[in-house]
Amino acid sequence: MPRNYVPKQISLDHLGLLKKTSCGSRDSLAYLQERKALKHQGVFTKTERLSKTQQLGVEDYPKGVGGPKAQPMSHPGTTDSEVVYKYAGSVIRQIIPQDRIGTYTVNMQTGSQNGVQNGCPINKEGAEFNPYRNWRRPDLPSRCTYGRSKDNPHSNKSCPKPVRPKILNSVLENIAGTPMIRLNNIGKSEGLKCEILAKCEFFQPGGSLKDRIALRMIEDAEEKGFIKPGATIIEPSSGNTGIGVAMVCAVKGYRCIIVMPQRMSLEKVATMKALGAEIYRTANGIPFDQPESHVGVARRLMEEIPNSFLLDQYRNPSNPLAHYDGTAEEILDACDNKLDMVVIGTGTGGTLTGVARKIKERCPNCKIVAVDPEGSLIAEPAELNQKGKKFEVEGIGKDFVPTACDRQFVDKWYKAADKESFQMARRIVREEGLLVGGSSGTALHYGIQAMKDFGLKEGQRCVVIFVDSIRNYMTRFLNDEWMGERGYLEDEEEEPSK
Ligand SMILES: Cc1ncc(COP(=O)(O)O)c(C=O)c1O
Repeated sequence: MPRNYVPKQISLDHLGLLKKTSCGSRDSLAYLQERKALKHQGVFTKTERLSKTQQLGVEDYPKGVGGPKAQPMSHPGTTDSEVVYKYAGSVIRQIIPQDRIGTYTVNMQTGSQNGVQNGCPINKEGAEFNPYRNWRRPDLPSRCTYGRSKDNPHSNKSCPKPVRPKILNSVLENIAGTPMIRLNNIGKSEGLKCEILAKCEFFQPGGSLKDRIALRMIEDAEEKGFIKPGATIIEPSSGNTGIGVAMVCAVKGYRCIIVMPQRMSLEKVATMKALGAEIYRTANGIPFDQPESHVGVARRLMEEIPNSFLLDQYRNPSNPLAHYDGTAEEILDACDNKLDMVVIGTGTGGTLTGVARKIKERCPNCKIVAVDPEGSLIAEPAELNQKGKKFEVEGIGKDFVPTACDRQFVDKWYKAADKESFQMARRIVREEGLLVGGSSGTALHYGIQAMKDFGLKEGQRCVVIFVDSIRNYMTRFLNDEWMGERGYLEDEEEEPSK
């Protein structure tokens, strides 16, 4: 039976999930994960045992060249430990709350972990290391290449626009292959002569581009044998990935748990519940690295539920790969490899990473424009960003730069305001007949700005990705009262100039 989301206050005690510690959320699992990374650098070579009394401190870190310089500190009034060390060029502060310290055996040869944490087994005796049962910070820099180079650690799937049989075996075969549709009115009324094409991801069966990554993340994990029948799939999401994952789980028969901040729409919750997912909602505005955040709760559930697996779109390489192999191929195919600009909103940054990387490989002169809401911290340079500002467009923006987000191919970042985004989303519906969600308005409004700034001319072409559908927002930006209360209707809806 779907589990109702629990109100913020009750959820903490009721679930017994969110025991507060006086320190942050970094703990022994992250520590173990770091150690695994260090193992790959040849730092650890032996099987090591950490005991409860040992605590985690300097003696657990490797000494000598290449190893981190660790200084353990205890926290006043608690037995929590904090370790500060350098890893991959950045200073990492790792806090290990007393209640999270358990007994582990870490086999540094195989990476397998056995042990108990909070009374919950981490991995079965003798089990191989499973990345879906080992939490890792979602804001570490990406080390992936994603491309087709020799050192690409992933398998690429050749997926140009799928050719559909007349009868599909399940709804999953209807994922991808979305249409590219020309915008005929808005560009003109803005005085633009270039061609504007919309990659209409809102036609996906789950209603958003996130269906692609949901399927790819689950199937990649299945192929590698990490997820098997009977598993529980857990995902922190702003909703669309949750819907995609719930849909894939419904078809494949997995139990599905989605953790989502309160601010996301009830329409998304209703869709996920209908698909049989259990939903946990977390309070808004909690920093991602706190245990009460949607990322933190998802992690905690994974640690506590046996046979559960955290896909983690924020750092799962299958996220950008779904766009590198799929979305980008479809865009290039539709445009016969001729395009001058692509505009992409960023949340996990998976779309940006996958699409930009492939397009720069094929069309090096194509400009990549990325859009990030005011209040989010993803844009570059960092001075563009304003920490703590609230934003209401859903799906884009984060308080950290996700590992899945590779910003190296972006030519220009734009910071987006809610009012302009929602007003443009309403124009797209009314003037182009496309039933899009709010972040599509963001992409087009700031895309138009970019087309003007870069001086796109007649004969040139810009593709804007429209991520999700109006269905998610019936009570939000479609509703005049909701818009009016927030001042989003002011000076809206003048007749478009003919
Ligand atoms: C509506 C919407 N737009 C844009 C995005 C951003 O996509 P990405 O996570 O690939 O950056 C998302 C992600 O959840 C979304 O839900």
